[in-house]
Amino acid sequence: MKRKVLSTILAASMVATMAVGCGGGNSAQTDAPAADAGTEAPAEGGDAAQAEAPAPVAADQEGGKIGVAMPTQSSERWIKDGGNMKEKLEALGYEVDLQYAEDDVQMQVSQIENMIASGSQCLVIAAVDAGALTTVEAQAKEAGIPIIAYDRLLMDTDAVSYYASFDNEGVGTAIGEYVKTAKDLDAAREAGESYTIEFFMGSPDDNNAVLLHKGVMGVLQEYLDDGTLVCKTGRTSFEDTCILRWSQETAQQWCENYLTGFYADEDLDIACTAFDGFAYGVKAALQGAGYTADNWPLITGQDAELMACKNILDGTQTASIFKNTSLLADKCVTMVEAVMKGAEPEINDTTTYDNNVVVVPSYLCTPISVDKNNLQEVVVEEAGYYTAEELGL
Ligand code: GAL
Repeated sequence: MKRKVLSTILAASMVATMAVGCGGGNSAQTDAPAADAGTEAPAEGGDAAQAEAPAPVAADQEGGKIGVAMPTQSSERWIKDGGNMKEKLEALGYEVDLQYAEDDVQMQVSQIENMIASGSQCLVIAAVDAGALTTVEAQAKEAGIPIIAYDRLLMDTDAVSYYASFDNEGVGTAIGEYVKTAKDLDAAREAGESYTIEFFMGSPDDNNAVLLHKGVMGVLQEYLDDGTLVCKTGRTSFEDTCILRWSQETAQQWCENYLTGFYADEDLDIACTAFDGFAYGVKAALQGAGYTADNWPLITGQDAELMACKNILDGTQTASIFKNTSLLADKCVTMVEAVMKGAEPEINDTTTYDNNVVVVPSYLCTPISVDKNNLQEVVVEEAGYYTAEELGL
Protein backbone atom coordinates (compact mmCIF):
# COMPACT_ATOMS: atom_id res chain seq x y z
CA MET A 1 0.00 0.00 0.00
CA LYS A 2 1.25 3.50 -0.80
CA ARG A 3 0.15 7.01 -0.25
CA LYS A 4 -1.73 8.37 -3.23
CA VAL A 5 0.82 11.08 -3.93
CA LEU A 6 3.43 8.45 -4.63
CA SER A 7 1.00 6.57 -6.86
CA THR A 8 0.42 9.69 -8.89
CA ILE A 9 4.12 10.17 -9.47
CA LEU A 10 4.43 6.51 -10.41
CA ALA A 11 1.46 6.74 -12.71
CA ALA A 12 3.31 9.36 -14.72
CA SER A 13 6.38 7.18 -15.03
CA MET A 14 4.12 4.23 -15.84
CA VAL A 15 2.81 6.00 -18.92
CA ALA A 16 6.39 6.40 -20.07
CA THR A 17 7.16 2.74 -19.31
CA MET A 18 4.06 1.60 -21.11
CA ALA A 19 4.99 3.56 -24.18
CA VAL A 20 8.35 1.81 -24.21
CA GLY A 21 6.78 -1.55 -23.36
CA CYS A 22 4.22 -1.42 -26.13
CA GLY A 23 6.47 -0.10 -28.82
CA GLY A 24 9.58 -1.84 -27.61
CA GLY A 25 8.79 -5.32 -28.81
CA ASN A 26 7.73 -6.71 -25.47
CA SER A 27 6.58 -9.61 -27.65
CA ALA A 28 3.15 -10.51 -28.90
CA GLN A 29 2.43 -12.44 -25.72
CA THR A 30 2.33 -9.19 -23.79
CA ASP A 31 -0.68 -7.99 -25.67
CA ALA A 32 -4.05 -9.13 -24.53
CA PRO A 33 -5.92 -10.73 -27.41
CA ALA A 34 -8.68 -8.54 -28.72
CA ALA A 35 -12.17 -9.83 -28.07
CA ASP A 36 -13.68 -10.99 -31.30
CA ALA A 37 -17.19 -10.51 -32.55
CA GLY A 38 -19.80 -12.57 -30.81
CA THR A 39 -18.15 -12.11 -27.44
CA GLU A 40 -20.19 -9.15 -26.41
CA ALA A 41 -22.48 -9.46 -23.49
CA PRO A 42 -25.90 -10.18 -24.84
CA ALA A 43 -28.22 -7.23 -24.59
CA GLU A 44 -30.40 -7.43 -21.55
CA GLY A 45 -34.08 -7.65 -22.40
CA GLY A 46 -33.21 -7.59 -26.10
CA ASP A 47 -35.67 -8.63 -28.75
CA ALA A 48 -34.51 -12.21 -29.05
CA ALA A 49 -37.33 -14.73 -28.92
CA GLN A 50 -37.94 -16.96 -25.91
CA ALA A 51 -36.70 -20.49 -26.55
CA GLU A 52 -39.62 -22.86 -26.87
CA ALA A 53 -39.90 -25.97 -24.73
CA PRO A 54 -39.06 -28.89 -27.04
CA ALA A 55 -41.34 -31.87 -27.60
CA PRO A 56 -40.05 -34.95 -25.75
CA VAL A 57 -37.69 -37.11 -27.76
CA ALA A 58 -38.67 -40.50 -26.38
CA ALA A 59 -41.58 -40.12 -24.00
CA ASP A 60 -42.52 -43.76 -23.87
CA GLN A 61 -39.06 -45.25 -23.95
CA GLU A 62 -36.57 -46.01 -21.16
CA GLY A 63 -33.01 -44.79 -21.41
CA GLY A 64 -31.49 -43.54 -24.64
CA LYS A 65 -28.11 -42.22 -25.69
CA ILE A 66 -26.82 -38.84 -24.50
CA GLY A 67 -23.77 -37.10 -25.99
CA VAL A 68 -21.80 -35.05 -23.46
CA ALA A 69 -19.25 -32.71 -25.07
CA MET A 70 -16.79 -31.17 -22.59
CA PRO A 71 -14.11 -28.59 -23.45
CA THR A 72 -10.88 -29.88 -21.94
CA GLN A 73 -9.23 -32.15 -19.43
CA SER A 74 -6.49 -29.60 -18.80
CA SER A 75 -8.33 -28.26 -15.80
CA GLU A 76 -9.56 -30.43 -12.99
CA ARG A 77 -13.05 -29.00 -12.86
CA TRP A 78 -14.10 -30.27 -16.30
CA ILE A 79 -12.92 -33.77 -15.47
CA LYS A 80 -15.19 -33.64 -12.45
CA ASP A 81 -18.05 -32.15 -14.53
CA GLY A 82 -17.80 -34.88 -17.19
CA GLY A 83 -17.51 -37.62 -14.57
CA ASN A 84 -20.54 -36.33 -12.67
CA MET A 85 -22.70 -36.10 -15.77
CA LYS A 86 -21.77 -39.60 -16.92
CA GLU A 87 -22.37 -41.14 -13.52
CA LYS A 88 -25.70 -39.42 -12.91
CA LEU A 89 -27.06 -40.13 -16.40
CA GLU A 90 -25.96 -43.76 -16.30
CA ALA A 91 -27.66 -44.16 -12.93
CA LEU A 92 -30.92 -43.17 -14.68
CA GLY A 93 -30.40 -45.79 -17.38
CA TYR A 94 -28.93 -43.64 -20.14
CA GLU A 95 -25.98 -44.60 -22.30
CA VAL A 96 -23.41 -41.78 -22.29
CA ASP A 97 -20.93 -40.75 -24.97
CA LEU A 98 -18.56 -38.41 -23.07
CA GLN A 99 -15.94 -36.56 -25.14
CA TYR A 100 -13.32 -33.94 -24.30
CA ALA A 101 -12.08 -31.59 -27.02
CA GLU A 102 -8.83 -30.43 -25.40
CA ASP A 103 -9.69 -26.81 -26.17
CA ASP A 104 -9.64 -27.53 -29.91
CA VAL A 105 -12.70 -26.05 -31.63
CA GLN A 106 -12.50 -28.30 -34.69
CA MET A 107 -12.12 -31.38 -32.52
CA GLN A 108 -15.26 -30.43 -30.63
CA VAL A 109 -17.19 -29.91 -33.88
CA SER A 110 -16.13 -33.40 -35.08
CA GLN A 111 -17.02 -34.96 -31.75
CA ILE A 112 -20.51 -33.47 -31.89
CA GLU A 113 -20.94 -34.54 -35.53
CA ASN A 114 -20.03 -38.07 -34.45
CA MET A 115 -22.49 -37.94 -31.57
CA ILE A 116 -25.25 -37.01 -34.02
CA ALA A 117 -24.20 -39.68 -36.51
CA SER A 118 -23.95 -42.39 -33.87
CA GLY A 119 -27.48 -41.93 -32.55
CA SER A 120 -27.29 -39.57 -29.57
CA GLN A 121 -30.81 -38.40 -28.74
CA CYS A 122 -29.80 -35.38 -26.69
CA LEU A 123 -26.60 -33.33 -26.53
CA VAL A 124 -25.11 -31.64 -23.48
CA ILE A 125 -22.43 -29.16 -24.54
CA ALA A 126 -19.86 -27.11 -22.65
CA ALA A 127 -18.32 -25.26 -25.58
CA VAL A 128 -14.69 -24.55 -26.28
CA ASP A 129 -15.79 -21.52 -28.33
CA ALA A 130 -19.43 -20.67 -27.65
CA GLY A 131 -20.12 -19.14 -31.06
CA ALA A 132 -18.27 -21.67 -33.22
CA LEU A 133 -20.78 -24.52 -33.11
CA THR A 134 -23.71 -22.98 -34.98
CA THR A 135 -23.47 -25.29 -38.03
CA VAL A 136 -23.31 -28.51 -36.06
CA GLU A 137 -26.02 -27.21 -33.70
CA ALA A 138 -28.27 -26.60 -36.73
CA GLN A 139 -27.55 -30.18 -37.88
CA ALA A 140 -28.66 -31.48 -34.47
CA LYS A 141 -31.84 -29.42 -34.61
CA GLU A 142 -32.56 -30.69 -38.11
CA ALA A 143 -32.18 -34.26 -36.81
CA GLY A 144 -34.57 -33.54 -33.90
CA ILE A 145 -31.82 -33.74 -31.25
CA PRO A 146 -32.25 -31.21 -28.44
CA ILE A 147 -29.23 -29.44 -26.98
CA ILE A 148 -28.56 -28.32 -23.42
CA ALA A 149 -25.84 -25.76 -22.75
CA TYR A 150 -23.67 -26.79 -19.82
CA ASP A 151 -22.11 -24.00 -17.75
CA ARG A 152 -21.18 -21.94 -20.84
CA LEU A 153 -24.03 -20.41 -22.87
CA LEU A 154 -24.16 -21.51 -26.52
CA MET A 155 -24.29 -18.33 -28.58
CA ASP A 156 -25.96 -17.38 -31.86
CA THR A 157 -28.20 -20.44 -32.17
CA ASP A 158 -31.88 -21.29 -31.75
CA ALA A 159 -31.05 -24.98 -31.29
CA VAL A 160 -30.47 -24.78 -27.54
CA SER A 161 -33.35 -25.77 -25.24
CA TYR A 162 -32.01 -25.10 -21.73
CA TYR A 163 -28.96 -23.75 -19.94
CA ALA A 164 -27.56 -24.97 -16.60
CA SER A 165 -24.94 -22.72 -15.04
CA PHE A 166 -24.07 -20.45 -12.14
CA ASP A 167 -24.92 -16.81 -11.72
CA ASN A 168 -21.95 -15.70 -13.78
CA GLU A 169 -22.16 -11.98 -13.11
CA GLY A 170 -22.63 -13.00 -9.48
CA VAL A 171 -19.27 -14.80 -9.62
CA GLY A 172 -17.65 -11.51 -10.65
CA THR A 173 -19.52 -9.59 -7.99
CA ALA A 174 -18.35 -12.08 -5.37
CA ILE A 175 -14.73 -11.69 -6.51
CA GLY A 176 -15.02 -7.88 -6.43
CA GLU A 177 -16.67 -7.95 -3.01
CA TYR A 178 -13.96 -10.25 -1.69
CA VAL A 179 -11.24 -7.80 -2.75
CA LYS A 180 -13.20 -4.85 -1.40
CA THR A 181 -13.73 -6.44 2.01
CA ALA A 182 -10.36 -8.14 2.42
CA LYS A 183 -8.48 -4.93 1.67
CA ASP A 184 -11.09 -2.69 3.31
CA LEU A 185 -11.12 -0.36 0.34
CA ASP A 186 -13.47 2.11 2.00
CA ALA A 187 -11.05 2.56 4.89
CA ALA A 188 -8.16 2.91 2.43
CA ARG A 189 -10.14 5.57 0.55
CA GLU A 190 -10.82 7.46 3.78
CA ALA A 191 -7.16 7.33 4.71
CA GLY A 192 -6.03 8.42 1.25
CA GLU A 193 -4.18 5.17 0.71
CA SER A 194 -4.07 2.94 -2.34
CA TYR A 195 -3.37 -0.62 -3.48
CA THR A 196 -1.95 -1.79 -6.78
CA ILE A 197 -4.05 -4.28 -8.73
CA GLU A 198 -3.87 -6.25 -11.98
CA PHE A 199 -6.66 -8.16 -13.72
CA PHE A 200 -6.57 -11.56 -15.43
CA MET A 201 -9.97 -12.18 -17.00
CA GLY A 202 -11.52 -15.12 -18.88
CA SER A 203 -11.72 -16.16 -22.51
CA PRO A 204 -13.25 -13.75 -25.02
CA ASP A 205 -15.20 -16.60 -26.64
CA ASP A 206 -16.91 -17.49 -23.34
CA ASN A 207 -19.99 -15.48 -22.35
CA ASN A 208 -19.27 -16.30 -18.70
CA ALA A 209 -16.06 -14.31 -18.89
CA VAL A 210 -17.80 -11.19 -20.15
CA LEU A 211 -20.36 -11.36 -17.34
CA LEU A 212 -17.71 -12.07 -14.72
CA HIS A 213 -15.74 -8.97 -15.73
CA LYS A 214 -18.94 -6.93 -15.55
CA GLY A 215 -19.56 -8.22 -12.02
CA VAL A 216 -16.00 -7.47 -10.86
CA MET A 217 -16.08 -3.96 -12.25
CA GLY A 218 -19.53 -3.34 -10.80
CA VAL A 219 -17.78 -3.45 -7.42
CA LEU A 220 -14.24 -2.25 -8.12
CA GLN A 221 -14.62 0.41 -10.83
CA GLU A 222 -15.37 3.20 -8.36
CA TYR A 223 -12.14 2.46 -6.47
CA LEU A 224 -10.16 2.52 -9.73
CA ASP A 225 -11.83 5.79 -10.63
CA ASP A 226 -10.88 7.52 -7.38
CA GLY A 227 -7.36 6.08 -7.17
CA THR A 228 -7.91 3.76 -4.20
CA LEU A 229 -6.98 0.99 -6.62
CA VAL A 230 -4.10 1.64 -9.00
CA CYS A 231 -3.71 -0.57 -12.06
CA LYS A 232 -0.22 0.31 -13.25
CA THR A 233 -0.50 -1.43 -16.62
CA GLY A 234 -3.72 0.46 -17.29
CA ARG A 235 -5.32 -2.82 -18.36
CA THR A 236 -8.78 -2.89 -16.84
CA SER A 237 -11.19 -3.31 -19.78
CA PHE A 238 -12.41 -6.76 -20.77
CA GLU A 239 -10.67 -6.44 -24.14
CA ASP A 240 -7.35 -5.71 -22.45
CA THR A 241 -7.55 -8.38 -19.76
CA CYS A 242 -9.27 -11.37 -21.40
CA ILE A 243 -7.12 -14.46 -21.83
CA LEU A 244 -7.96 -16.73 -24.74
CA ARG A 245 -9.06 -20.27 -23.77
CA TRP A 246 -8.47 -19.50 -20.10
CA SER A 247 -4.76 -20.30 -20.58
CA GLN A 248 -2.70 -20.64 -17.40
CA GLU A 249 0.50 -20.20 -19.42
CA THR A 250 -0.69 -16.88 -20.84
CA ALA A 251 -1.64 -15.65 -17.37
CA GLN A 252 1.83 -16.53 -16.11
CA GLN A 253 3.48 -14.84 -19.09
CA TRP A 254 1.42 -11.68 -18.66
CA CYS A 255 2.12 -11.57 -14.94
CA GLU A 256 5.86 -11.99 -15.55
CA ASN A 257 5.76 -9.15 -18.06
CA TYR A 258 3.73 -6.94 -15.73
CA LEU A 259 6.09 -7.53 -12.80
CA THR A 260 9.14 -6.74 -14.90
CA GLY A 261 7.66 -3.79 -16.76
CA PHE A 262 5.58 -2.10 -14.09
CA TYR A 263 6.38 -3.41 -10.64
CA ALA A 264 10.16 -3.10 -10.36
CA ASP A 265 9.88 -0.44 -7.64
CA GLU A 266 6.58 -1.20 -6.02
CA ASP A 267 4.89 -4.47 -5.11
CA LEU A 268 1.76 -5.80 -6.73
CA ASP A 269 -0.85 -5.87 -3.95
CA ILE A 270 -3.77 -7.61 -5.67
CA ALA A 271 -4.00 -10.09 -8.57
CA CYS A 272 -7.68 -10.17 -9.43
CA THR A 273 -7.99 -13.35 -11.47
CA ALA A 274 -11.08 -15.05 -12.88
CA PHE A 275 -9.92 -18.66 -12.65
CA ASP A 276 -7.84 -20.92 -10.42
CA GLY A 277 -5.67 -21.78 -13.43
CA PHE A 278 -4.74 -18.10 -13.71
CA ALA A 279 -3.97 -18.01 -9.98
CA TYR A 280 -1.49 -20.88 -10.50
CA GLY A 281 0.19 -18.95 -13.34
CA VAL A 282 0.34 -15.78 -11.26
CA LYS A 283 1.78 -17.73 -8.31
CA ALA A 284 4.58 -19.11 -10.51
CA ALA A 285 5.34 -15.62 -11.88
CA LEU A 286 5.47 -14.14 -8.37
CA GLN A 287 7.77 -16.89 -7.12
CA GLY A 288 10.01 -16.31 -10.15
CA ALA A 289 10.14 -12.60 -9.33
CA GLY A 290 11.17 -13.29 -5.73
CA TYR A 291 7.92 -12.51 -3.89
CA THR A 292 7.70 -14.15 -0.45
CA ALA A 293 5.09 -14.43 2.30
CA ASP A 294 6.14 -10.93 3.40
CA ASN A 295 4.92 -9.21 0.25
CA TRP A 296 2.68 -11.87 -1.30
CA PRO A 297 -0.37 -10.23 -2.94
CA LEU A 298 -4.03 -11.08 -2.53
CA ILE A 299 -4.86 -13.54 -5.33
CA THR A 300 -8.43 -14.46 -6.33
CA GLY A 301 -9.59 -17.39 -8.45
CA GLN A 302 -12.63 -19.38 -9.48
CA ASP A 303 -13.68 -23.05 -9.28
CA ALA A 304 -12.18 -24.08 -5.91
CA GLU A 305 -10.11 -26.74 -7.63
CA LEU A 306 -8.32 -29.11 -5.26
CA MET A 307 -4.95 -27.51 -5.96
CA ALA A 308 -6.41 -24.05 -5.41
CA CYS A 309 -7.85 -25.14 -2.08
CA LYS A 310 -4.44 -26.46 -1.03
CA ASN A 311 -2.86 -23.18 -2.14
CA ILE A 312 -5.45 -21.26 -0.12
CA LEU A 313 -4.54 -23.29 2.93
CA ASP A 314 -0.81 -22.70 2.46
CA GLY A 315 -1.32 -19.01 1.68
CA THR A 316 -0.17 -18.90 -1.96
CA GLN A 317 -3.71 -18.16 -3.17
CA THR A 318 -6.10 -16.06 -1.12
CA ALA A 319 -9.59 -16.93 -2.30
CA SER A 320 -11.62 -18.78 -4.89
CA ILE A 321 -15.24 -19.11 -5.90
CA PHE A 322 -16.74 -22.48 -5.07
CA LYS A 323 -19.08 -23.74 -7.77
CA ASN A 324 -20.55 -27.07 -6.76
CA THR A 325 -20.37 -28.93 -10.07
CA SER A 326 -22.21 -31.91 -8.62
CA LEU A 327 -25.23 -29.66 -8.06
CA LEU A 328 -24.80 -28.26 -11.56
CA ALA A 329 -24.80 -31.78 -13.01
CA ASP A 330 -28.00 -32.58 -11.04
CA LYS A 331 -29.73 -29.57 -12.57
CA CYS A 332 -28.48 -30.43 -16.04
CA VAL A 333 -29.72 -34.01 -15.68
CA THR A 334 -33.25 -32.73 -14.93
CA MET A 335 -33.03 -30.83 -18.22
CA VAL A 336 -32.00 -33.99 -20.06
CA GLU A 337 -34.99 -35.77 -18.52
CA ALA A 338 -37.20 -32.88 -19.63
CA VAL A 339 -36.21 -33.07 -23.26
CA MET A 340 -36.17 -36.87 -23.30
CA LYS A 341 -39.42 -37.50 -21.45
CA GLY A 342 -41.33 -34.26 -21.41
CA ALA A 343 -40.72 -33.73 -17.67
CA GLU A 344 -40.57 -30.22 -16.20
CA PRO A 345 -37.04 -29.07 -15.49
CA GLU A 346 -36.51 -26.60 -12.67
CA ILE A 347 -35.82 -23.16 -14.17
CA ASN A 348 -35.01 -20.03 -12.16
CA ASP A 349 -34.10 -17.52 -14.86
CA THR A 350 -35.97 -16.76 -18.07
CA THR A 351 -34.60 -13.32 -18.88
CA THR A 352 -30.82 -13.05 -18.51
CA TYR A 353 -29.32 -15.47 -20.99
CA ASP A 354 -30.03 -14.00 -24.39
CA ASN A 355 -27.69 -15.72 -26.86
CA ASN A 356 -28.38 -13.18 -29.63
CA VAL A 357 -31.11 -15.42 -31.11
CA VAL A 358 -33.19 -16.73 -28.21
CA VAL A 359 -33.43 -16.15 -24.46
CA VAL A 360 -32.49 -19.54 -23.07
CA PRO A 361 -34.45 -20.79 -20.01
CA SER A 362 -31.83 -21.34 -17.36
CA TYR A 363 -31.14 -22.74 -13.95
CA LEU A 364 -28.44 -20.77 -12.18
CA CYS A 365 -26.73 -22.22 -9.14
CA THR A 366 -25.25 -19.92 -6.49
CA PRO A 367 -21.49 -19.37 -6.34
CA ILE A 368 -19.84 -19.07 -2.90
CA SER A 369 -16.65 -17.17 -2.04
CA VAL A 370 -14.15 -19.28 -0.13
CA ASP A 371 -10.91 -18.44 1.64
CA LYS A 372 -8.97 -20.06 4.45
CA ASN A 373 -11.59 -19.02 7.02
CA ASN A 374 -14.56 -20.88 5.53
CA LEU A 375 -13.00 -23.42 3.15
CA GLN A 376 -13.36 -26.40 5.43
CA GLU A 377 -16.90 -25.51 6.45
CA VAL A 378 -18.22 -24.81 2.93
CA VAL A 379 -16.32 -27.23 0.73
CA VAL A 380 -15.70 -30.16 3.07
CA GLU A 381 -18.40 -30.13 5.74
CA GLU A 382 -21.41 -28.64 3.93
CA ALA A 383 -20.86 -29.76 0.34
CA GLY A 384 -18.75 -32.90 0.85
CA TYR A 385 -16.93 -31.80 -2.31
CA TYR A 386 -13.50 -32.85 -1.03
CA THR A 387 -12.60 -34.86 2.03
CA ALA A 388 -10.59 -33.30 4.82
CA GLU A 389 -7.88 -35.81 3.94
CA GLU A 390 -7.70 -34.68 0.31
CA LEU A 391 -7.07 -31.17 1.58
CA GLY A 392 -4.50 -32.38 4.07
CA LEU A 393 -6.63 -31.20 7.00
C1 GAL B 1 -15.70 -20.90 -17.48
C2 GAL B 1 -16.30 -21.26 -16.15
C3 GAL B 1 -15.27 -21.12 -15.05
C4 GAL B 1 -13.95 -21.79 -15.41
C5 GAL B 1 -13.52 -21.45 -16.80
C6 GAL B 1 -12.26 -22.17 -17.23
O1 GAL B 1 -16.63 -21.08 -18.47
O2 GAL B 1 -17.38 -20.39 -15.87
O3 GAL B 1 -15.81 -21.66 -13.87
O4 GAL B 1 -14.06 -23.16 -15.23
O5 GAL B 1 -14.55 -21.69 -17.71
O6 GAL B 1 -12.43 -23.54 -17.29
